[in-house]
Amino acid sequence: MCGIIGINSNKPVSATIINSLKKLEYRGYDSAGIATLSSGLINEIKSEGRVDNLEKNSLVQNMEGTIGIGHVRWATHGSPNSINAHPHSSQNVSVVHNGIIENSTLLKKFLVSKGHKFKSQTDTEVIVHLITENLKTENIVSSIKKTLKSLHGSFALGIIFKDQPDLIVGARRGSPLAVGYGPNENYLGSDSYALKSMTNKITYLNDGEFCVIKKDQVEFFNEEGIKINKKVLEVSSEEKKYEKGDYKHFMAKEIEEQPTTLKNGINEYLDNSNNNINIYNFPWKTKDISSITLVGCGTAYHSCLMAKYWFEEITTMDVNVDIASEFRYRKNRFKKETLYIFVSQSGETADTYAALDLCKKNGMKTCAVVNVVESSIARESEFVLPIHCGTEIGVASTKAFLGQILILYIFSLKLGLLRNDLKKDVFIQKLKDLKELPKLVKQTLLTDNKIQTITKTFNEAKGSMFLGRGFSYPIALEGALKLKELSYVHAEGYPAGEMKHGPLALIEEGMPVVVLAPRDNHYKKTISNMQEVIARGAKVLLITNKSKDEIVSENIWETIEVESTNEDLLPFLLTIPLQKLAYYSALKKGFDIDKPRNLAKSVTVE
Ligand code: G6P
Repeated sequence: MCGIIGINSNKPVSATIINSLKKLEYRGYDSAGIATLSSGLINEIKSEGRVDNLEKNSLVQNMEGTIGIGHVRWATHGSPNSINAHPHSSQNVSVVHNGIIENSTLLKKFLVSKGHKFKSQTDTEVIVHLITENLKTENIVSSIKKTLKSLHGSFALGIIFKDQPDLIVGARRGSPLAVGYGPNENYLGSDSYALKSMTNKITYLNDGEFCVIKKDQVEFFNEEGIKINKKVLEVSSEEKKYEKGDYKHFMAKEIEEQPTTLKNGINEYLDNSNNNINIYNFPWKTKDISSITLVGCGTAYHSCLMAKYWFEEITTMDVNVDIASEFRYRKNRFKKETLYIFVSQSGETADTYAALDLCKKNGMKTCAVVNVVESSIARESEFVLPIHCGTEIGVASTKAFLGQILILYIFSLKLGLLRNDLKKDVFIQKLKDLKELPKLVKQTLLTDNKIQTITKTFNEAKGSMFLGRGFSYPIALEGALKLKELSYVHAEGYPAGEMKHGPLALIEEGMPVVVLAPRDNHYKKTISNMQEVIARGAKVLLITNKSKDEIVSENIWETIEVESTNEDLLPFLLTIPLQKLAYYSALKKGFDIDKPRNLAKSVTVE
């Protein structure tokens, strides 16, 4: 899973490739590499770690060549070292790849028997040797066609050839790929974001297609190698610079920005003059939708789960939630009256995209909740609800999570009203409360010092648990995920009522347990569950909301009180201390907060 870039120009390309690779680092940052053609030779430079490492290499700074390819990697086959970094090259061909070749072992056996020698442990290297082998008897287009037919699995490829000084080949199956058009130069990239500083004229390749990119012309082919015409789209040329400013990390900035991003989301969807919600061009009649299935991965999956609780509370619809990697392989009973909602910050997550594709192939109604509106998931869905959060850089999602649940909450209110599940006066009251939310989030963000002092206990413990019931359960899962992602300590989210069926056995003297117990319907029950873990030695951090009623419980280690609002909106406020807990835990350990080990912002392999 990775990001790829290719540039064919009449100017040196290495610096521009490096700049574009920095934009693709959200796809992987284990290693990076670049290959250019100059003086009739392929030059390949690769390094372990970030693009910054590659850029510092003096060889890259002096790299010649007006045609080249680049890559950022998230390791799938072979450890993340410079040998396994892309590009992979033979004497004649150099390849960058995003995806997984599932039959690489078999292909390698065949190629070794033909005398090919392999340098890396990657699946990608078989592509290099297959093309090299096929070029012995075929021209460029038919060798590519033949090679692609031999590959099982998913790929986006960028390929340059020693003997072709004006030609980059791009090919796609499963993984996204775009072509960009510039003055006397053309480009290839994993997404339009990487190409934006160079052009706003883009063509997206469809599955099975490949292209030949020359400086002044791009030709497209279907999988049979037959030439096809493709549309050139104009994407927004706005390229906002998103900097850390005075913050130590993007994540810190993104946490603090949440009052503003929530306000933006609310302003986009709420019609203040008419006390209503504007959702324009909704393509279906609400009477034709009786159930909802929400699909996502990671934090986005937690947003889906949160939405289930709201949709069930606010509407009378059936609601299902699924993890995309499970959904795509199950025998789903597709139903015409179901609306399938795909939640994804990046809009590029491979499993979520595949789940969407499956629904489309089955003729289902599809809706995307995304941050990146030009993403694959947004483009392929029938209807898009953007979350309007702006760029999110921190790999561990924060403002996008609140953005996703905000839009899903707004959508549940709108459907509730349209279906007459929600009375108009209740609806209006909920909108009123919602408008206050950014202010309450801002106040909740002030709870800082206490969280900083308790991180030590979480960092030093063998593990921790995050418990919640009802609306607080998805937030408990998200809190545990944040701590795992950033602080590399074991943390488990659990429904508080389920502890007694097994996980209670984990509780031992001094184990930190976060209990989310806002003053909602579940409060008393959750407090009882809290007592059960305290009785077994847990150090409980209770997170609740401010109230005039005292907390009737003893032996609580620490308490954090968030602001108060209606029950629906408490999950937003409960999330804030959990984000900060993860942030400060990782800060104390000196870990790379914006780019945690082994992770990527967007996972483009399954
Ligand atoms: C990766 C990221 C997570 C994110 C998940 C889904 O695992 O590290 O933070 O929640 O992908 O990403 P998406 O872009 O689909 O929301």
